[in-house]
Parts: sequence; C-alpha cells; structure tokens
Amino acid sequence: MKILSGTSNLKLSKSIAKNLKLKLINTNIRRFADGEIYIEINENIRGNSVFVVQSTSHPANDNIMELLLVIDALKRSSAKTITAVIPYFGYARQDRKVAPRTSISAKVMANLITNAGATRVVTVDLHAGQIQGFFDMPVDNLYTAPLFAKYIKKKLKNKKLICVSPDVGGVARTRDLANRIKADLAIIDKRRPAPGKSEVMNILGDVKNKTCIIVDDIIDSGGTIVNAVNALKKSGANEVYVFISHGVLSGDASKKIKNSKIKKLIVTDTIDNTKKIHNNNKIEVLSISSLMSEAIKRIANSNSVSDLFN
Ligand code: R5P
Repeated sequence: MKILSGTSNLKLSKSIAKNLKLKLINTNIRRFADGEIYIEINENIRGNSVFVVQSTSHPANDNIMELLLVIDALKRSSAKTITAVIPYFGYARQDRKVAPRTSISAKVMANLITNAGATRVVTVDLHAGQIQGFFDMPVDNLYTAPLFAKYIKKKLKNKKLICVSPDVGGVARTRDLANRIKADLAIIDKRRPAPGKSEVMNILGDVKNKTCIIVDDIIDSGGTIVNAVNALKKSGANEVYVFISHGVLSGDASKKIKNSKIKKLIVTDTIDNTKKIHNNNKIEVLSISSLMSEAIKRIANSNSVSDLFN
C-alpha cells in the first residue's frame, strides 16, 4: 500500500501517512506558465495499491483536474489498484435536475474519476448518499457522526441537548447524531429564494431553554447556519453549537461566524482552513485523519469499514 497526496490538503495527507507509518509517494506536481498541470511520479509503484488523497475543494476545478491527472499517471505506471480518497467531494450539491436544463455535476464528477482510472473511491459525508450509485465501483462513504458524538459526550455533557437539522435534507444525518448522543430532534424548514440565499420559515420541535446542536455537511457562505442560529435563539434556545463536516467557508463566512450568536463551530479538516480561521476563536477543528487512516488500513487489508461506525 502507498499514499500519494495532491496539493489541496497536504497537511491532512501527511497526518494520514504518519498514522499509517508510511511516507508519501515522491511526486512532482507543478504548473506550466499557463496554469496547466504537470504530474510526474518519481518512484516505482508497479503492482502497488495506491491511495490518492485529494479534496476537490476551492479551487475546485484545478483540484479536480489534478486528481484526474494523478490517477491517469498511476494507471500508466501500472499501479494495481487506485483508490481516490476525496475527503471533501466537491460538486456534490448538484445530484439531480432541480430545474429543466440543469446539469448533474456529481454524475459528471463520477464519470471523470471513473474514466481517469480509479478503482475505488473513499470519501466523507457525501452531500447525498445516492451519489455512491453514480459510480460502478466500490465507494466507501465515511461518517463524521462518531467523531462528533465523542466530542459532545466529552465536552457538552450535563446539558439539555437537542439536535437540529438546518433543513429537511439533513434530517437523516441529524437523527443519526441525536440517536448516538440520546438527544431529541428538531428540524428547520429552510427555503432558498435564490441560489446562495436562505430563509428560515419554521422550527419544528421545542428548543426553548435547550443547548442546540446543529449538524450539517457543508458550511459555504455561512448563510444557512447564521440564519438558523438566529431563529433558534429567537425561539428561546440557550446556546447553539454547530458541527460541520466540510468547512467550505467562502468569502467572509469566517467573519460572519465570528460576529454571530454561535457559541462554537466545530469543523473537520477535510478542507485545510488554517489561513481562513487562524484568528477566529469561535471555530474549532476536529481532525478526521485517524478515522481516514483506519478506513484506508481496513480497505487495504480487506476488513470491514462499516464496523467503524457501529
Ligand atoms: C445544503 O443542502 C447544504 O447541506 C448546506 O446547508 C449548504 O451548502 C450551506 O450553504 P451556505 O453556508 O452557503 O448557506
């Protein structure tokens, strides 16, 4: 087994490799003057099972292309298997036609990764589980819920907790966390009047005098979360903690969080946000690296991955 890192989240790749007591494959990834990507693998990987770690986060198009070219280089170098480890799977939010004549970007991503030569995909909290079906190869979708549950049980015990889904699409994810920490469930009825804008219509459930735990897969502009927190506080919530798998944190999202009524936002490191959040004491990063290394080890040894989540 060998690990190769793209350039999107080197910190996480290094940590995964360290946990597995491996060195990252010596690779040369550089840009031509016009921005095109050049990939060269500087060691023999013939017959190896190679895991390529690359989040397709901002700049998404560049990071996707880099992933595809690395996979192609591995295929042409006779790797035995090529697992695309995509901690944050970008373009997953368009997983169906939401209007006539729109694209299904998650399917296009699946086609690109397949055609480049990947033989397996490992990812974390896919925006929609059914995206696994866009691939005709094994896809391991890892969950952050056990990580979040452990944190909550340790740091927020003795509080009157209620888990809150920020929209109807997130109910299954939120119910899973609520079951793990034995808390009630509330749901926010969110509307999107326009792309990138969100409005809270109603809160289903009693949040008064409780500590709310919002759980979501992505925080992008921060609009969904800030609106949800304001609505929960208005309905009498004591305090609001937010648990997010992927900190996309575009534009001034980090500033919005800092100036909001959020008690704390806990986000994993599927995306490297070191620069964006270094002066924001409301944001705490929980590393996904042990979970990812354990999953990679189990895949390499043909052991169960789902056992990690029971
Ligand atoms: C949407 O379905 C996702 O789960 C997130 O709620 C959404 O992407 C967050 O976006 P924003 O932070 O821009 O409101």
